[in-house]
Amino acid sequence: MRKLMILAAASIAALTFVAPASAQSPIVIKFSHVVAADTPKGKAADKFKELAEKYTAGKVKVEVYPNSTLYKDKEELEALQLGAVQMLAPSNAKFGPIGIKEFEVFDLPYILPDLASLRKVTDGPVGAKLLKLLDSKGMTGLAYWDNGFKQMTANKKLVAPSDYKGLKFRIQSSKVLEAQFRALGSIPQVMAFSDVYQALQTGVVDGQENTWSNIYTQKMHEVQKYATVTNHGYIGYIVIVNKKFWDGLPADIREQLSKAMKEATEYGNSQSAKENDEALEQIKKSGKTEIITLTHDQDEAMRKAMLPIYKDVASRVGQPLIDEFLKETGRSPVN
Ligand code: LMR
Repeated sequence: MRKLMILAAASIAALTFVAPASAQSPIVIKFSHVVAADTPKGKAADKFKELAEKYTAGKVKVEVYPNSTLYKDKEELEALQLGAVQMLAPSNAKFGPIGIKEFEVFDLPYILPDLASLRKVTDGPVGAKLLKLLDSKGMTGLAYWDNGFKQMTANKKLVAPSDYKGLKFRIQSSKVLEAQFRALGSIPQVMAFSDVYQALQTGVVDGQENTWSNIYTQKMHEVQKYATVTNHGYIGYIVIVNKKFWDGLPADIREQLSKAMKEATEYGNSQSAKENDEALEQIKKSGKTEIITLTHDQDEAMRKAMLPIYKDVASRVGQPLIDEFLKETGRSPVN
């Protein structure tokens, strides 16, 4: 049924989006995303809209749909492939179900020590090679947008790896994340982002991992007693556009949109860390969840517990790709 609805929207979109730009009929870019407007992705999307409309002098209209108002996680990727929406920025952890497993390398625990290392990867040859993989799926990769580092939340204090045993954790649709929680003895459950708050509230799952900005804007901290500062993983976004739509744009428009995307990316990526820091402050201020900071030894124990998954997922993600990542970031995952 859902697929039918996506298809119906796609055929309407197919009738409209190829129309040439004119004063009467701007080219419409529907940009769907699953997070709140007041997040790193939400703000970058709004910035892109502002710049795209400015640089094309109104020939392009960008409609941003935040908070899963159009589609949930997996559906939005199908919708993009079918042309029902033109632009998305799904997290790196959401490409497995459409057959691109390589972006899951970003999900490996502790693979990115900081944003500077991340930037080296995304701005360099590895980042470019990964974007190329999208072509065969009818998508063009335009940019990498940050969110930031993930933290663990639950209704139980999470300090030692043994604390995770037997707990149910919501995960994004990534096999690397599944392996991560299995390594801790937890039960991972794939769930769409928009369903997480309710699942935590009703106890369908015991915990989840996310960035401070996502935790705060989805009010997860109101239904989780504890949050542990782990910074164990990263959430970032791949900005993608329907390839047929993109290739069919007049060259000058595509150029103006590329410029808008470049500037929106610079803007968003320069703000993301600050936004996550601010969200953490708001969570602290709310007094609704206890923030747990790990000692050096506790942090080491978490790293050690998760290390085996590098081997477990090597055949899925690709050992050469993992090695390239480690080389770019200049460190092994445990030091
Ligand atoms: C999640 O599903 O937890 C995130 O990918 C949501 C997002 O887009 O940041």
